[in-house]
Amino acid sequence: ALALPALCAPLNALAAPLVLGFSQVGAESEWRTANTASIKAAAKEAGITLKFADAQQKQENQVKAIRSYIAQKVDVIAFSPVVESGWDTVLKEAKAAGIPVILTDRAVKVSDPSLYASFIGSDFVEEGRKAGRWLLERAARTPAAALNIVELQGTVGSAPALDRKKGFEEVIKANPRLQIIRSQSGEFTRAKGKEVMEAFLKARDRKIDVLYAHNDDMAIGAIQAIEEAGLKPGVDIAIISIDGVRGAFEAMKAGKLNVTVECNPLLGPQLMQLARDVVAGKPVEKRITVNEGVYPAEVAAKELPNRKY
Ligand code: AHR
Repeated sequence: ALALPALCAPLNALAAPLVLGFSQVGAESEWRTANTASIKAAAKEAGITLKFADAQQKQENQVKAIRSYIAQKVDVIAFSPVVESGWDTVLKEAKAAGIPVILTDRAVKVSDPSLYASFIGSDFVEEGRKAGRWLLERAARTPAAALNIVELQGTVGSAPALDRKKGFEEVIKANPRLQIIRSQSGEFTRAKGKEVMEAFLKARDRKIDVLYAHNDDMAIGAIQAIEEAGLKPGVDIAIISIDGVRGAFEAMKAGKLNVTVECNPLLGPQLMQLARDVVAGKPVEKRITVNEGVYPAEVAAKELPNRKY
């Protein structure tokens, strides 16, 4: 009779690859493009079959994609939720089907935390605080006068927009000279960032000293609007943004952006490991954060060649 290991080995070798259904927010920013590339490359590298859907920044498309992954009986579902709320029903459907769910990049607000296995992504509140701290320090070095801030928020209702606003406000309230005089969503895109900044500049009843953009793409769009209005971005208006994409480093090198707070999109390899562990029933951390830095314009030229996204 054949020994058991001899029988099992070829069966293992033939085991079907793990299938991961991933619903992405969209392709709204340089950050998102890098995030998608990281996930696709890591799946390939890990031998995981990836089913990928782009939701074009619409929650309804993400719900449809998740339902289709449930119907296809994938092994595990991961998604980066476009907005924070409204996920209970579809996540309960995944749970009832016995398919574990991993959140990447953005958080959800749900009634029952057991509706997802783990959440891997940045601490957006802390990113907002880092942006605020940079401004506090700069304000301490500038003569005492009001510093009027305009804010370009990310997608309405999304975790990064809510949290980056919260963290920034929490820090700047220490200095009453720092006031947000206008705040509007630029939907995390260059085009909308430019459009909203144009409107801010047109309505300039008060001088604009600082722009706080919730991502680099909106800051880059706004830089164009500022230049078209005959002003010098980074000089006449100090600009703070978040992500740390290559485009931001180039803008800093050109003296048009003052600082970017890093938000790492290269989550693919960790996500694949997490997917394997969750499917294998191993215990995983409920919250996995990422270490990130702050890059002011002064270090941009030196850091640019090292940037991976
Ligand atoms: O959720 C991460 C954010 O989404 C990034 O900061 C932004 O660029 C993207 O669109």
